[in-house]
Order: sequence, then structure tokens, then C-alpha cells
Amino acid sequence: MHPFKLLVLTGIVPVLAVKDYLFRKCDQNPFCHRNRHYAVEAQRPDFVTPYTLANLDTADPAHITGTLVKSVGDQTVDLSLLIEIKTDNTVHFVVDEPNRKLDNPALQASRYSPAGDILDHSQVSKLKPTKNVKVSKKDGAVTISFGDGNEVEITLSPFKARLLHKGTEQVALNNRQLLNFEQLRKKDSNDGWNSWELQDNAWSDSFDGKTDEKSRGPEAVALDIDFSNYKHVFGIPEHADSLSLKETNSESGHSEPYRLFNVDIFEYETQSPMPMYGSIPFMMASKTDSATGVFWLNGADTYVDVSKSSQGVGSHWISEAGKLDFYLFVDDKPAHVLEAYGKLTGMAALPQAFAIGYHQCRWNYNSQSDVLEVNANFDEASLPYDVIWLDVEYTDAKKYFTWNKDQFPEPVEMLGELDETKRKLVTIIDPHIKAEKSYFVYDDLVNKNFAVQDRANKPYEGHCWPGNSVWVDSMNPAASEYWASLYAFGNDLGGDALNLHIWNDMNEPSVFSGPETTAPKYLLHHGGWEHRDLHNVYGQTLTNRTFDGMLSRYNGEQRPFILTRSYYAGSQRIAAMWTGDNQADWAYLKEATPMILTSGIAGMPFSGADVGGFFNNPDSELLTRWYQAGAFYPFFRGHAHIDSARREPYLAEEPYKSAISNALHLRYQLLPQFYSAFYEASQTLAPVMRPLFFEFPEEEAVYAIDDEFLIGDSLLAKPVVDRGAKSIDVVLPGGGVYYDYFTGKAHRANKITVPTELESIPLFVRGGKIITRRDRHRRSAELMANDPYTLVVAVDDSGRASGKLYTDDGISYGYEKGHYALAEFVYESGQLKNKVTHADKAFNDLNIERIIVYGAQASTAHAGKTKFDLEQTDAGFIVRNPRFKIAENWTLTFK
Ligand code: GLC
Repeated sequence: MHPFKLLVLTGIVPVLAVKDYLFRKCDQNPFCHRNRHYAVEAQRPDFVTPYTLANLDTADPAHITGTLVKSVGDQTVDLSLLIEIKTDNTVHFVVDEPNRKLDNPALQASRYSPAGDILDHSQVSKLKPTKNVKVSKKDGAVTISFGDGNEVEITLSPFKARLLHKGTEQVALNNRQLLNFEQLRKKDSNDGWNSWELQDNAWSDSFDGKTDEKSRGPEAVALDIDFSNYKHVFGIPEHADSLSLKETNSESGHSEPYRLFNVDIFEYETQSPMPMYGSIPFMMASKTDSATGVFWLNGADTYVDVSKSSQGVGSHWISEAGKLDFYLFVDDKPAHVLEAYGKLTGMAALPQAFAIGYHQCRWNYNSQSDVLEVNANFDEASLPYDVIWLDVEYTDAKKYFTWNKDQFPEPVEMLGELDETKRKLVTIIDPHIKAEKSYFVYDDLVNKNFAVQDRANKPYEGHCWPGNSVWVDSMNPAASEYWASLYAFGNDLGGDALNLHIWNDMNEPSVFSGPETTAPKYLLHHGGWEHRDLHNVYGQTLTNRTFDGMLSRYNGEQRPFILTRSYYAGSQRIAAMWTGDNQADWAYLKEATPMILTSGIAGMPFSGADVGGFFNNPDSELLTRWYQAGAFYPFFRGHAHIDSARREPYLAEEPYKSAISNALHLRYQLLPQFYSAFYEASQTLAPVMRPLFFEFPEEEAVYAIDDEFLIGDSLLAKPVVDRGAKSIDVVLPGGGVYYDYFTGKAHRANKITVPTELESIPLFVRGGKIITRRDRHRRSAELMANDPYTLVVAVDDSGRASGKLYTDDGISYGYEKGHYALAEFVYESGQLKNKVTHADKAFNDLNIERIIVYGAQASTAHAGKTKFDLEQTDAGFIVRNPRFKIAENWTLTFK
């Protein structure tokens, strides 16, 4: 039983705190301990890295191969090295151990690479080497030059490498000599190993009373990847920490490295490097004139030490198994680096329009009538929402793909009723399958050999919500296909309803009885892989198949919506994520912002946090502030633990109810702006909720700011995250004018203080931008599809503004075939123009009903022969009912 559930049942009110004794610290995890110790040895003055490079084949300068020779004592090991130069200033390094032979033929001898499951192969195939790649050699060094002023300089003996951009060093590899590739070792031989590397527990160790047998012995890979002259690094979610990463071996930062190991870390702590539910091994460094990134393509348990000095930021990557396989990116701006990473792992999926509306969840809505009552209550209170969610209790005894028919006798009818008000239903499907004979999924997994196996080659059984459970082996193509087929159209899950969507939870996988709340690393997958090899990608491999299943359920005609708790690089192509089980506490409201910003900067823009806090009960002020913050989360969902009191927005008392209602309406008003930002993420992977440094990389002062952000490139928000806050300081970066979103009041100072009464949401339109809203109140996003738009033109001090609006049917993949409209509004020299980039005729009827201009003066306007009277305001003026189309070019001239 989940430990928290047990405490609740016994009536003990728990003090929530992470059970950190359940999770291995670096020195409790032998491979990490060895490599942190390696770093100490490497500081000895006489230490020389044992790696040299030989047999370089540079015939194809964009695809260089060689032998990386490791020499320890009088032993040498030949490793293979590959260096590839790709477009977009991307360099790929792979070190592998060829020709491994294991005593146990049932085990896979090769080292695992997650590339097959996680890269976006439709794009990667297009990633050709850059044309102008050249190689030059001089004494003991090889230089590859490529692209626009980039170079990789490789020193052969000892092996080191540097990446330069426009003549300046950006990244140094093995400069601190931490490269460590633990070659296959015979248990009874120490050849090729330093004596100080030989740990007693390298083959088997125990933690928290559970033993981990490493049948292949120690085989970690590690490397120092240092960002020269940088001060800030970002990324490597998931951690509940600041946006700018901290040092990890110091008194001022953390004492532990950041760990990437997908676990069910219930009651997690804030400001911590501890592992969480997802892992994206992508780190970005940015400074005022350049940005670089590293993507460490490894699916195993990984720790990253971060150190800072006057030379820059050092990172030391340590993975338990797999290849040493990573990509480096370099460019002038963080946006370009993220886009290059997106070309490899995929851009973000464009969600359906409903999915960026508000989602109402709790553990649990108890019955069909409960669901329909909540649905009706939203309408009664005139509150917009799009999706109601069902947590695990809707099933028959936690057997997924079944219903508790006492409480939900007619699920398809319920889906139909929701559809009448254009609402959707999301049901949870967890990957643990109840071990109960004659439960069809269990029978299939066992009979067809589709389950992950224990050491005796039997289906591994562990504990999760249903009690004893087994897990689908996503490495087995037939099992994966089976998992996808469970979502088929017409099944028990939702019959032929198309408004059904999916939540994959507990997919780290969470195993209550397992080591560190997850699956033992020695479990066996199809192909002879150990779970150790692929742990961090397991969740994504299953979610990939959920996506396939849902896509074929909809016959390819709708974009699936899937929420996943576990994720890896590439999950952005298929799913949204949320930050798991937070608490109804101000510290967690505060922490959600940097977590979502980090997620965005690591290429996972569709992210959110449980609004209101999962555990415990928020008071009305906290709940209100959380809705005001959540209105900006790309994924906006209220959720609550089974023991918490009901807290649907319509239940709040005044004045909180009105404040929450305003926050919800604000979100719906901004849906066109959000959708356009999601479109951008689908093209370039730019975050929807964007850290200031991403938009203003030339301003060093904003790099560490993580309580303020932009939506797209034009709206600046700073949610109130402190109890009783009367005012808040807001930094306005870029040196230009900003306009208060609600009043149009202009602000020109770099830092302002604004009052924060309960109903205030500090929100500004950036001067120089044009944003688009939909102001009519509706019940759901889908019902707004034909509503007219309001433009807000926020003129900058040079008299200019511009902005883009993207729209499509909000449902299908038609946009891939050109069924969309993309308008670009430009204001300059007293004229506002629509320059239509693309307009499908389906969007001909979409009009503009209002144009609000801030920061300019005029008394009349005309478009051809049509004249408009302008309504004067304190902040500028308004054109009412111009009836311009968004899918047509037009010019409005102001006088
Ligand atoms: C996990 C999820 C939570 C969900 C619960 C029951 O704790 O993180 O969101 O409500 O499981 O399914």
C-alpha cells in the first residue's frame, strides 16, 4: 500500500516530508560514488587521463571515426569513437565498446542507446551534415571547422576536445580529465582498472534492504562537459529547484549532484536536486553573446555535478550504463540552440484547442452523476472549463480498461452528455496491471510473454494501486502493439466516443514495493536488456504507444491529448506533463514557476502543476493565488488528493470566487495568444511560458529571474506567490515600454512596484507587440472557435508594433495540409496592416471586433473609403467593430 494512504487510513495526520532515506544519494550508489571519487583522483598533479585517440579516419569530415584507446597499467582497451557534424551547429559524439561478449547469452551484450525510441526519426533523417565541413591536422591535433565560424579542436593524446564558436571557446570536453568509460570487466580480474576504482559493491549492493545484482558488472560512463566563460546553466529536469542550476558540490548550493532517475517521489521537497518523475538530459548554457547545449543520450540512472568558477560552469555527467553518446549545440542565442535540439528530438505537438483550456480533476469524481453534476455546476456558475478527469477509482478494482459499473453504469452516455456542452473526459490508465487471473489484460501479458521479467524469467510482480501487479514490456514490439491496441475504438474504455482522452500516471514505473519506489534495475526486458539500461525512457516508450493507440482510435482525425507523469527527451512530441504530487502550501506554488520554466527550456513546453496543491487543503487565498498563477501554466489543471476537501472553483466564497472566476476568464480570453505560442513551439520548440533570459539573452541581470516570465514573446507575468502580499516588484526587461494588461497604463522603468490586492494579476503587454484575445465568455474553448478577436496594439517608443496570430480547426491534423490561417499584424507610421502569411478559406469568417491601441494618438481612421470614429482612452484609443478579417490583407490608416 502507498505509505501515505496507509497513514490516512490509520487516522494519523501525516507531516509531509520526502522520505529521502528511500532514495540513493551519490555515495550510496556505487557507480556515482566511483565517479565522484574519480574526480578527486583526477585532481592529483600527476594524474593523466588514460585516453588517447588513434586510427582517425577523416575521409568524410562530417563523419569521423577513430579508436579511443584506454590504457591502465599495461592493459589497453579499444573503444570506438564517432564524431558527426550535423546541420544547425550540432556535433554528435559516440564512444562505444565494440564486440562485447558476456558469459550469460540471455543478456544483451551491446550497450543500450535510447535513440530508436526517443529521437524524432522523421526529422533526424533530414539532419544532413553541413556542407562546408573541413578537417585540418597538425601535430597531435585535428580541427574540424563547420557552419558559420564553428570549430571542434581535438587533441589526440591525451584525448581532449574543445568546441569554438566565432573564435571563442564554448565547451571543453575532458578538460578536467573526468572521462571514464568502464569497460566490461571479468569478475575475477582487475586488469585495466585502477586499484582505487575497485569497489566491493560494484557487482552487487544493497540499499534499503533490497539487493541489486549487476550481472554485467560495473559499466558506467562519465565525462566533464564544461561551458567556458558561462555563468548560468539551465535544464536537466525534473527537479524541484531554481531555473538557473546551482552548484552541487558546494556549501552555497546543493551537496548532492542533480539526479536523473524517474521515481515516484511522493511528498517531494522544494529547492532540491533529488530525482523526480521525469528526466530530460538536456542542459543549456547561455551568456550575452552565445548559447550552447548538451544532450546526453542515455537511458540509465544519471547524476550531474555542477560546479562554477571564474572559468565558467562545469558539468560532470555520470550514467550507470549505456553508451557515451551526446550532442553539443552552439549558436548566438538560446532560441537557436533549443531549436537545434528540437530538430533531433522533435518539436512540440500542437495540442487540440480544448487542451489549453482549464481542466478539472480530483482523486476522484465518484460516479457518473457526480461527473455530470460538476459539469452542470460550472455552467451554473458561468465558469469556463473544457475537461473533467477521472482518477483511478472509476475502474473496477484498479483494473485499467474496465469501469466500476456500479458507479459508472453508462460511460458512453456520460461522454455523450459531456459532448453536448463540448466538454471532454480524461480517464487515467496506469501501466501496472493487476495480477488477477481472468482479468483480460493480465492474462494476455502473462500468456503472450508480454510482461517485464524477473531474474527467473517469470513476470515480475510488484505492488502498486491494485495490489500485486505486472508491467508491460515496452521493449517487446508485440507487447507495445498490444498496449496500443487496448485503446482501440469501440472498446469498453469509451465506446465510440471521440471526446475521451488519456492520463498515463505512475509510469516511472512506480512500484511501491520496489527499490527507490520503482522497478529493480536487474529486471529483464525483451532483447536481453536490463531495466537498468532503459529505466529513464520506460515511461516514454509506453506513452509513445498510448499515443499510437489513441491516434488510431480517432482514425488519425484528431490530435491525441495525453498527460504523462514520467517523461524523457522527445516526450514533447506526444504528451503534456505535470509536476506530480505537490502540496497545498505557498512554497509549492512558488516552486511551480521555475519548474515549468525549466521544463520549457528543456523542450517540454506543455507542462503544468496541480493547481491548489495535491496534498492537503489550500485556504481560500492560496487557492485564489494558485488559479491566478495557473492561468499562465501551459497545462492548466486543478487537482487534489482523495483525502482533500472538494475545491472546485464554484465552491469558493466571495471575494475569492470572483477572483478565481476572473483568472479562468483571463485564461480563456488569452487562448488565441496561447495557441499561437503553442504553434511556435510546434515549429521551433520555443517555450510557451518563457524565461526572461530566453527572450532577452543580452541582459545578464535577468538570467537568474525565475518568478517572472513571458507567454510567447509578448505578455509578461509575475504571479503573486506570497501570503498577504500587498505589492510586488516586477522587472521590465529590454529597456522599452510595457503596458498594464488591464488598464493600458505605460511603464518605462526597469523595475516597478505594483499593488497586489487579491484580485490583481501582475500582467503586462510588451511595447512593440500586438496580442490577440477573444473577449466573449463561453463555456469551453471549442465553443469559442468562431468568436471574433480583439487586437491589442502595444506601440513601442519608436512607434512600431507587430504580432502573429495562428489558428486552425483546433482538432485535426488538417493544418499539416495547409488548413490554417497565419496573420501578421504590423503597426508602423500610423498604419496597422494585416499581412496574411497563409489563409485557408475555412477561416474566412473570422473577424476582428475591436482594436485597442496603447501608446499612440489618433482621432480618426480609414481603410479605403470606410471611415472609423475612434474612442479615446487614457492609454490610447479603440476602434470598435472594424469587421476586418484575419484571413485577408487590409490596411487601417490613423490620423
Ligand atoms: C499519483 C498521481 C496523482 C493521482 C494519484 C492517484 O499520486 O501523481 O495525481 O491522483 O496517483 O491516481
